[in-house]
Amino acid sequence: MGVDGRNRGEGEGELLADRQAEIDAAARALRAGELVILPTETVYGLGADAANPAAVTAIFEAKGRPRFNPLIAHVADLATAACIARLDDRAWALAREFWPGPLTIVAPIQDTAAVCDLARAGLDTVAIRVPGHPLSRAVLEAFGGAVVAPSANRSGRPSPTTFADAMAETGDKTAAALDGGPCAVGLESTVVSVIDGQVRLLRPGAVTRVQLQQIVGPLAEAEDDAKRSPGRLALHYAPDAPVRINARAPKPGEAFLAFGGGASGEGVFNLSPTGDLAEAAANLFAYLRAADRTHPSAIAVAPIPEDGLGEAINDRLRRAAGYIG
Ligand code: TXA
Ligand code: MG
Repeated sequence: MGVDGRNRGEGEGELLADRQAEIDAAARALRAGELVILPTETVYGLGADAANPAAVTAIFEAKGRPRFNPLIAHVADLATAACIARLDDRAWALAREFWPGPLTIVAPIQDTAAVCDLARAGLDTVAIRVPGHPLSRAVLEAFGGAVVAPSANRSGRPSPTTFADAMAETGDKTAAALDGGPCAVGLESTVVSVIDGQVRLLRPGAVTRVQLQQIVGPLAEAEDDAKRSPGRLALHYAPDAPVRINARAPKPGEAFLAFGGGASGEGVFNLSPTGDLAEAAANLFAYLRAADRTHPSAIAVAPIPEDGLGEAINDRLRRAAGYIG
């Protein structure tokens, strides 16, 4: 996996040969309308055949997810993406730069696209991405079509970034599950819309604002939150304990997510002792869960710089704390 969350293919052939039976079983389960736990480089997903309304309904039920929150269609390659979404020049430029990888593009749906209405929450746009993790790509290739996959958590909870967390959240609802190890990125994909020649950032994520601007220039003004990404609830990514952000130090009874050197001791989880934002992103959800398991009165989180990946980390933390980003 490269620093930008893309896989470089080293040792991929060997890895996949060992796992072919599991890959085929996952593709068969998808064809049969069953749900599947899929590893991606961002977070674990709960996948279903995008063209099968019954399977898509099962996703909303397994997660307890509101039906007005549309899902991301995952495909194996750019050619399949182009059959589903109408990608203009700027969307193509982003796709070529960041796929396979942690970017989701929202674009007008193609008339012939096999992504059912329910998966799109009735919108005339579709969110699409080519994931970077070799196992999910192999399943998508074996399956052939689009797989909708929200994060595999129950609605409102932190996204799972390990196989064990994914299984604990929704594993009992699935017919197949692939262990792809801990997710290298640890935060969900960046979501941009590319509509009428305008590029808007709907959800900050692993691909940063600066990286996007390097490809398409200045982004269009973001709309208000509800319009930006229909399903984004105020309380999201939330552990059981309340979350207190921008905390200099924990109060008695609190767990503490530190950032940078210094802090240590019982109940302290250091997101990155060296102050590295990529490391902090990769640890964020797993440490929120680990802190939660100590049954603290609250989880205090140190201030995180807002630059680069910090924008996405702070977005998730504000939502975990119950503030609308
Ligand atoms: O990294 C990821 O994106 C992970 C992995 C599994 O791929 N998936 C993920 O899916 O985070 P989910 O369902 O948890 O988040 C999808 C986001 C939601 O905020 C949803 O509202 C937005 O994408 N979305 C989907 N379709 C959309 C559309 N047509 N217009 C605007 N936003 C859309
Ligand atoms: Mg999610």
